[in-house]
Amino acid sequence: MKVAGVVRVPGDKSISHRALMLAALAQGTSRVREILPSADVQSTAAVLRALGVRIPPLSPDMTIVADGPGALRAPTQDLDCGNSGTTTRLMAGIVAARPFAARFVGDASLSRRPMQRIARPLEAMGARFTFERGDGLPMVVHGAQLKPIRWTTETASAQVKSAILLAGTAAGVPVTVTEPARSRDHTERMLAALGATVEVLGTMVRLEPPERLAPLDMTVPADPSSAAFIAALAVLARDGGVTLPDVCLNPTRIGFFRALQHMGARLEIQPGPKQGGEDVGIIFAWPSDLAAITVRAGDVPAIIDELPLLACVASRATGATHIRGAAELRVKESDRIAAVVANLRALGVEVEEHPDGMTITGSDAPLRGTVHTHGDHRLAMAFGVLAALPGNEIEIDDTACVSVSYPGFWTDLRGVIVA
Ligand code: S3P
Repeated sequence: MKVAGVVRVPGDKSISHRALMLAALAQGTSRVREILPSADVQSTAAVLRALGVRIPPLSPDMTIVADGPGALRAPTQDLDCGNSGTTTRLMAGIVAARPFAARFVGDASLSRRPMQRIARPLEAMGARFTFERGDGLPMVVHGAQLKPIRWTTETASAQVKSAILLAGTAAGVPVTVTEPARSRDHTERMLAALGATVEVLGTMVRLEPPERLAPLDMTVPADPSSAAFIAALAVLARDGGVTLPDVCLNPTRIGFFRALQHMGARLEIQPGPKQGGEDVGIIFAWPSDLAAITVRAGDVPAIIDELPLLACVASRATGATHIRGAAELRVKESDRIAAVVANLRALGVEVEEHPDGMTITGSDAPLRGTVHTHGDHRLAMAFGVLAALPGNEIEIDDTACVSVSYPGFWTDLRGVIVA
């Protein structure tokens, strides 16, 4: 198979959510270009609208006029977060700082995901949470006048860290968060660009919010988590190469590309000028012979969303790839350890499941069978890459779920295959 082409994958999902939320917390007119118009980001837009913020339809060049956190109003309906953990956890932080209650709901997958991890710090700041069953949605956030906090998280999670940072921003109180390892840092970078005082010391971040958050003017870079699928297809191809311009090269996000390089992939990362506080550049990827690697706990935060894809790529490498210290995968859109292991096994790959990861033995035997995505967008795309390789006969039970993060995925994937 030969690949060719230049693909500007859609805007970064994490940054797109934050752009809408920070524009809503700012005072004045924000301008956001190249926002990701995917289902998850639509959930954030809908939740903000339900809180009285005038978010126009998502478009490649949008203007948002807002009047700060004080303008957020009690919703008259449930806040439907769809499939989006980022919407739920970050918006809970914002709502916690307002003097009203809001009920968060989501789809079946989101309703199973743990929310105590945000409830605990936000309750320590003065908000109150009620759960209808266990740890998941539906969840009612009763907002309050919040107090400053110093919080240490048990797992590296940008969603937990960001919930606290946004609560501090919306309440106008300083907050400090210490994590066991550094999670993606878009929230702190964006807040610093809008006038907040942000100090970072190792895995600790301290935020002193400004009295008024300045409006935002930014172009959302291409999502490295989406670029990863196209790069993976290119390294698994026989001939040609692909170019992925404008990709966010934030070091907390590009663990997958570093892992591919360790596997021996011919991959070049060419940094360009910074955009809106983020490193942005071009990734070139060419067909390669890949060798197995070991991914350990310290590597995990920067590759967390790409581990299902790495497992699929590892099934085509020489040797046994070990993924460990990644128990967080069990509480993503699906149990991504159980689901990846079951699907690889169903296709004929030798794979061993661990409580915190898996071991995948690579081969070049053709893969045949049906993949059950459990509606998880990243599983559909990771196995979609294997399905595109000649010799494999793979059915994917749900191809539509890619709309959560990358609506044009199948067109872009097919578009780079030239022969
Ligand atoms: C995200 C953080 C990560 C990631 C998710 C997006 C974010 O989750 O898996 O896809 O935008 O903050 P955790 O914070 O739970 O690790």
